[in-house]
Amino acid sequence: MTQQPWEDQEYVKYTLWFVFACVIYSMIGFSWGALMGGIHEFRHFVDHRAHGNLIVRAHTHINLLGWVEMAIFAAVYYIVPRLVKRPIYSMKLVKWHFWVHNFGLIGMVVFFTAAGVSAGIAAGAPGDAVRATPAEIELIIKPWLATMGIFGTLVLIANFIWAYNIFKTCAGWKDSK
Ligand code: HEM
Ligand code: HEM
Repeated sequence: MTQQPWEDQEYVKYTLWFVFACVIYSMIGFSWGALMGGIHEFRHFVDHRAHGNLIVRAHTHINLLGWVEMAIFAAVYYIVPRLVKRPIYSMKLVKWHFWVHNFGLIGMVVFFTAAGVSAGIAAGAPGDAVRATPAEIELIIKPWLATMGIFGTLVLIANFIWAYNIFKTCAGWKDSK
């Protein structure tokens, strides 16, 4: 039996890696939400400490960029070559997309969390002996958030790589038949 363009082993492997990544991030993201909602001290920290809600941003982005986007990427990689009856435009770009997206997403989650934890601890709770001033707290979170932004930019670049690859795979598909 002749191999269809979308049955390329490397392509199948990477499409499945998007699925595996989606499953792993969903388990982390859901557990994170359950712990954040279920443990009173954790809930109190994210809701009431200065910038503690940046830890919620880590939860939302691991779910949205990890579980939701990874599932959509895998589905689109599965569907598009079958629809246009062509292989993906560039296997190299699929690999770049996978690694840059994962690297950027993990960095975003780590640095959102670091910003929220460090600001929340420095701010302390009412009644604590030593508490940072709002100006000091801003100085603490600035480098963490700037680093988060760099990783976020990588995620954005990964998205453009994906969009370009899908566009090139589809462009002019009718004429090539
Ligand atoms: C078992 C699964 C999940 C649990 C238990 C959970 C739990 C939570 C909790 C407790 C908060 C609020 C924290 C607070 O501000 O006090 C929260 C916020 C949020 N979660 Fe989840 N979550 C889950 C899954 C998801 C998924 C799958 C998504 C998105 C695809 C998501 C998106 C969000 C968003 C956007 C917010 C922030 C809302 C806001 O800023 O007010 N969560 N989640
Ligand atoms: C390039 C990647 C992304 C970057 C750098 C980024 C960055 C950010 C930042 C900095 C915030 C916090 C704003 C604040 O606290 O004032 C935010 C909020 C939010 N982002 Fe993103 N984002 C990205 C992608 C996405 C995607 C793909 C989704 C949805 C599919 C999303 C959904 C949200 C939501 C729902 C909120 C507000 C609610 C919350 O986090 O609690 N983001 N994003």
